Amino acid sequence: MGRFYITTPIYYTNDAPHVGSAYSTVNADALARWHRLIGDETKFLTGTDEHGQKVADAAAKNDHSPAEWVEQTSERFREAWRTLNISNDDFIRTTEARHHESVQKFLSTIYENGYIYKDIYQGLYCVSCEDYYTPETAVDGKCPIHARALIEMEEENWFFKLSAFEDRLLEYYEQHPGFVTPETKRNEALSFIKGGLRDISITRTSITWGVRVPWDEAHVFYVWYDALINYLTAIGYGRDDEEVRKWWPYSNHLIGKEIIRFHCVWWPAMCMAARLEPPAHVHVHGWLLIGGQKLSKTMAAEGGVKLTDISPIVLTNEFGVDPVRYYLLRETSLGNDGEFSLEGVTLRYNTDLANNLGNLVARVCTVVESKCGGEGPAASLDSALRPAAEKAILDNVAAWERFNPQSALEATWSLIGATNAYLEQHAPWKMEPGEEVRRVIGDALEAIRIVAMLASPAMPSVCDEIWRRIGLDETIGSATFEESTRWGQYQPARRVQKGEPLFPRIHTS
Ligand code: MSP
Repeated sequence: MGRFYITTPIYYTNDAPHVGSAYSTVNADALARWHRLIGDETKFLTGTDEHGQKVADAAAKNDHSPAEWVEQTSERFREAWRTLNISNDDFIRTTEARHHESVQKFLSTIYENGYIYKDIYQGLYCVSCEDYYTPETAVDGKCPIHARALIEMEEENWFFKLSAFEDRLLEYYEQHPGFVTPETKRNEALSFIKGGLRDISITRTSITWGVRVPWDEAHVFYVWYDALINYLTAIGYGRDDEEVRKWWPYSNHLIGKEIIRFHCVWWPAMCMAARLEPPAHVHVHGWLLIGGQKLSKTMAAEGGVKLTDISPIVLTNEFGVDPVRYYLLRETSLGNDGEFSLEGVTLRYNTDLANNLGNLVARVCTVVESKCGGEGPAASLDSALRPAAEKAILDNVAAWERFNPQSALEATWSLIGATNAYLEQHAPWKMEPGEEVRRVIGDALEAIRIVAMLASPAMPSVCDEIWRRIGLDETIGSATFEESTRWGQYQPARRVQKGEPLFPRIHTS
């Protein structure tokens, strides 16, 4: 049994969650569920990033104090994650006292270690990114991501000596080839470092909405500087050393591609400055795009995309929770960008779910009712389906290990395809009741049991329902992974029920 600590980025509370934020969260949730299934001790963290200029501006625009505003928007994230059946073990809010405490402890340690100094900051700032640009990295004086005018800033700030970590970071990358995945994103992070690192301004006096700098009360920490530390707050940094030692070597940050520099350059350097090992892994995912444009809250507010039409809650009302989760995991390989469309969700629903999985379960349960007296028969140990099932299991293990839910689901759907083909070939619905029907259906029931187990990280409720329909009352994951993946574990003579269609077809005109 291993240990697995997985985190999502913490979401800005300037607005409500959208399907892009759901993308990060559902992927992290499926990974957490997989690791629990294989028996790993797992901790899954998500939360909200509640400080910074962007949040303060949104609160002012809506005639709220920042504290009132983040209270409401943070709750909208929790509500969305409850709706999507997200199994996080903790939900961190950066306005919590525990977080302020950890941030102050962490940054004071870096200060005491000599990596923080005071200087004048002069430069260009994008409020939407909460990030700085130089004339070279700006595009026509605008932010390259949001195409918004950059603000000229001049302040006396505290700076972090990021430049001191160039060599140490390169060495860390060399010694830990799997630190950042996929490879293309690792190269991107490496080229940031090789391009030369400048010290970063890490505090503000122009705003008060943030974590106070303990050694200089006139300043608050720059939002990214407090946000990254959330991953440590949640495991007790500065409060519970044993808990930090328990989880930190097993940390996996899942992040979107636009925040690589913060997680793959700044964050490991900050950890080094605090004399802590950098995080173990950073896994980078692409963006969901609509018509080639990133689906971001900022652009939606500017009228580029109608975000309210694609809130995760609206989507689940339309398609159901598990189909939305399935779509988000299956449509795009985790490191790449993917095009989001309602037609795409409908197509996946009707083909993969209604035609392939739903139909498989329905036809098998129907034959058990009509030809086996409603009781599921046992699988044959030399079943022709057994190699397909064993391959699906091995491919799942490899795919989840590589942080690739899409390829895990492809492997599971190959088993569904093989089982449907096996049924077509033998057509048990045309047979007279007897040994032959029982053999074919027993094999199919065993394949369904394995499919439900393998697909459960993606579609937990539907898979539980499939187990109930084939008569299994234990919950998925109650036996060890080794035991439950062994062919022939379906216990015969269980009561099988056909029930309502799992995925009623969506009619498109
Ligand atoms: N608050 C920072 C993260 C701090 S982590 C210490 C932030 N927040 S965010 O709300 O803007 O984005 C959070 C995550 O949502 C990012 O990983 C981002 O990539 C993801 N997504 C936002 N829009 C997205 C898409 N359209 N598609 C996929 N993911 C997207 O950045």
